[in-house]
Amino acid sequence: MTETAEQQANPLADGLSFRRTPDPCALVIFGASGDLTHKKLMPALYSLAFRQLLPARFAIVGVARTEGDDDSWRDDMKQAVQKYARDEFRQDVWDELASAMHYVSTDFADAGGEAALEKLVAREEQEHTLGGNRVYYLAVPPPAFPTIVEALGKQRSATGWTRLIVEKPFGHDLESAKKLNKLLWRHFDESEIFRIDHYLGKETVQNMLALRFANGIFEPIWNRQFIDHVQITVAESIGIEGRAGYYEQAGAIRDIFQNHLLQMLALTAMEPPIDFKADSVHNEKVKVLKALHTPGPKSVVRGQYGRGFVEGEEVVGYREEQGVASDSMTETFVAAKLFVDNWRWADTPFYVRMGKRLARRETTIAIQFKRAPHPPFEETASEGLRPNVLLVHVQPDEGVSLAIGAKVPGQGMTIRTVHMDFLYGGAFRTGMPEAYERLILDTMLGDGTLFTRSDEVEEQWLLVDAIVAAWQRDRPAFPNYAAGTWGPPSSEELLQRDGRSWRRH
Ligand code: BG6
Repeated sequence: MTETAEQQANPLADGLSFRRTPDPCALVIFGASGDLTHKKLMPALYSLAFRQLLPARFAIVGVARTEGDDDSWRDDMKQAVQKYARDEFRQDVWDELASAMHYVSTDFADAGGEAALEKLVAREEQEHTLGGNRVYYLAVPPPAFPTIVEALGKQRSATGWTRLIVEKPFGHDLESAKKLNKLLWRHFDESEIFRIDHYLGKETVQNMLALRFANGIFEPIWNRQFIDHVQITVAESIGIEGRAGYYEQAGAIRDIFQNHLLQMLALTAMEPPIDFKADSVHNEKVKVLKALHTPGPKSVVRGQYGRGFVEGEEVVGYREEQGVASDSMTETFVAAKLFVDNWRWADTPFYVRMGKRLARRETTIAIQFKRAPHPPFEETASEGLRPNVLLVHVQPDEGVSLAIGAKVPGQGMTIRTVHMDFLYGGAFRTGMPEAYERLILDTMLGDGTLFTRSDEVEEQWLLVDAIVAAWQRDRPAFPNYAAGTWGPPSSEELLQRDGRSWRRH
């Protein structure tokens, strides 16, 4: 494999090129004309091709209801790659990738739909000796799952391995998630099922594990004795981007809290796994999720945005978005206080918040330590001193920052808070891979570490179901925050009641 220029110029990137290459295989994408395929999957496949990380013998088969053929799909995908890929467009890379791409237009509900697909995949397998290895990617709305899964289950190839990637949302509540798990298990083994939570594919989210378990200095203080509380923020400045049909049903609690947010919390709070194998990591995460609870309905607040200004532009309120009911009670913001009931974390609050149309895009995990027990300086000297905070910037400005007190130069003893910063861009001098690149490659390699196991998903729903049930009892006056702010006042009050506040922005 040739190294990219960025790797050659950067000694810290040594070893990046030594990953295993997956076995030859066919990747079948259901939902090939959809948004996810345009914006994430195809650009990710292009970037993998760009770095020569795809198997040497490979086929991509797109499946969707939209009329089309190989040529029209390739043209459409080429535009998507040019628009959304993180790498420059290179004709030679694209030509090679495009030559492996095929399209089947079918509605799986029609008789014969699966036969056309099977014929095409079998032809590709034979022509390119793919060994019968298949990855099926379900990038379709959940109502389409049963028909597709049943059909795939019936026509498993006689040789090679089969893996199934399931996009979120994984169910709508605990009951539907269990039903979906049962359906999948009828045809696939748990080790063949790869449930996506794309936040786990983000470098900075994985770096939480590196930070905690590759360094000797953090683990001894990573507990209730030294940590005052944890704050996790998933703030988005965008609105619902034309996805009213989905979002009206989901809301912030199902869209972000149930999956991305709880997964980040689990990685922050989990015990050290004995190794980095899928089951070892899942076992530790599920223990956290089982121990997680909210102290009561008052500890969860919700909001919905009204009109406002985001990054200088005037935007409409949620209820005015296209496809949204004018009296919609769907929440676009959630803040909560959570506790992890175990020896490490008992009584340590985890404050979390997430929302659309907030002041800016920012995902952070902030570990706030307790104050020094007895600073010997005069009170006025340390007025500018805040408690130590270890801040993981998941995005943007990926990196880690430690807030510490330092002496202000000059006479006397004045202490201020300063920051020790590690920035990915500066240290590794390389662009950050997109989450989907990692996750697609890991599936081909059969590595499920960065995916969610059935019991994790079910625990996540258990908590969400309890919160949603409590919400049935009251009807907040929506909208209750203006677009471009940091959410409703009740979010601030949640922390103020505990004598704390959200991190300043
Ligand atoms: C998706 C949600 O899972 O994550 C979207 O459905 C959200 O509503 C997106 O915008 C955020 O992902 P990222 O990677 O842009 O932070």
